[in-house]
Amino acid sequence: MIDNKTIVLTGASSGIGFEALKLLARGRGNRILAVARHVDNIQYFASNVTAFSCDISTQEGVDRVFEKAEELFGKIDLFYANAGFPYYEEFNYTDWDRVDAMFRTNTISPIYTYAKYIRHLNGRPGILAYTVSAIGEMAMPGYALYSSSKFALNGFQQAIRLEAPANLQITCLFPVATDTNFFKVANAVEFEKPFPVQKPSHVAKKMLEGIEQGRASVYPSGLFGFAKVLMGVAPPVRTFYWKLETAKLERFKKKLSVYHERLHEDVAVAVEKGKEVGEKLKEKEQSARKELDEKAGKLKEEIKEKLHGL
Ligand SMILES: NC(=O)c1ccc[n+]([C@@H]2O[C@H](COP(=O)([O-])OP(=O)(O)OC[C@H]3O[C@@H](n4cnc5c(N)ncnc54)[C@H](OP(=O)(O)O)[C@@H]3O)[C@@H](O)[C@H]2O)c1
Repeated sequence: MIDNKTIVLTGASSGIGFEALKLLARGRGNRILAVARHVDNIQYFASNVTAFSCDISTQEGVDRVFEKAEELFGKIDLFYANAGFPYYEEFNYTDWDRVDAMFRTNTISPIYTYAKYIRHLNGRPGILAYTVSAIGEMAMPGYALYSSSKFALNGFQQAIRLEAPANLQITCLFPVATDTNFFKVANAVEFEKPFPVQKPSHVAKKMLEGIEQGRASVYPSGLFGFAKVLMGVAPPVRTFYWKLETAKLERFKKKLSVYHERLHEDVAVAVEKGKEVGEKLKEKEQSARKELDEKAGKLKEEIKEKLHGL
């Protein structure tokens, strides 16, 4: 059990981060700054938890997190950069901002956090924890951008630990598919998750144990560890696994095209209905105008007659 620590935890409102928050809040003497953009569900979580609404995908956001933690605790014993998000999609677009958004959250923010944290520690002991991903070690169809953002973070953590100061422990988590909001964020249209799927409570528990034990890497799925070795010695196993996952992406693409077709049909029906309503309104407007004109005409005649009588 991690205790007597001042902790910053990003992505604390949901999934793996939320499960980690529950465990950390139970630790004796822990004080936690729990960060996410939406913090309604963790606002009054526990007396030792301060919820902090902040977008960590910008330099100003990360700076604000450090400022807030320094104001609250003075020193940060453990900085757990867990926030991140995926896209599940066929990568076939030229949307620079979409690519940029993913890398800012998943890669640049945790890299910048390292540099900030080293300065914050100024030689004192500290722990930097990252949630990377199994997909940061093994690319997956449908996750091209996400894979690349996590591979980049994985490359960074591997290189930086070769030059990091001795006062810093770096612990990285490599979860396989975990049953969180992750898959809802990845695409609004439901899709098949990669195999296997774990519970976030299990993943968070393994990560906190790994941090406590000073481990460099934490693999919550034994099956992934075994598969990595197996795929290393027998690459056709990986090819077979990729084939299964590619088939899932193909099924998803079909589902998406049916979904888009239906959406187009619905929009076409709505446009037709709109036109009908428009026509009816026009007719009503014309008959109302006619009626008014007739009434105005009659009124004119009446006034004329009355004026004649004077
Ligand atoms: N679930 C999986 O299968 C899986 C597998 C491997 C790795 N991971 C990694 O695990 C980490 C946690 O994901 P999860 O599965 O627990 O997903 P989740 O349930 O969607 O949680 C993501 C958390 O990150 C926060 N967040 C996202 N963008 C943020 C931003 N710009 N600024 C601040 N907070 C932000 C979210 O809160 P707000 O939206 O309110 O900001 C939420 O608290 C991520 O790094 C993810 O890539 C997940």
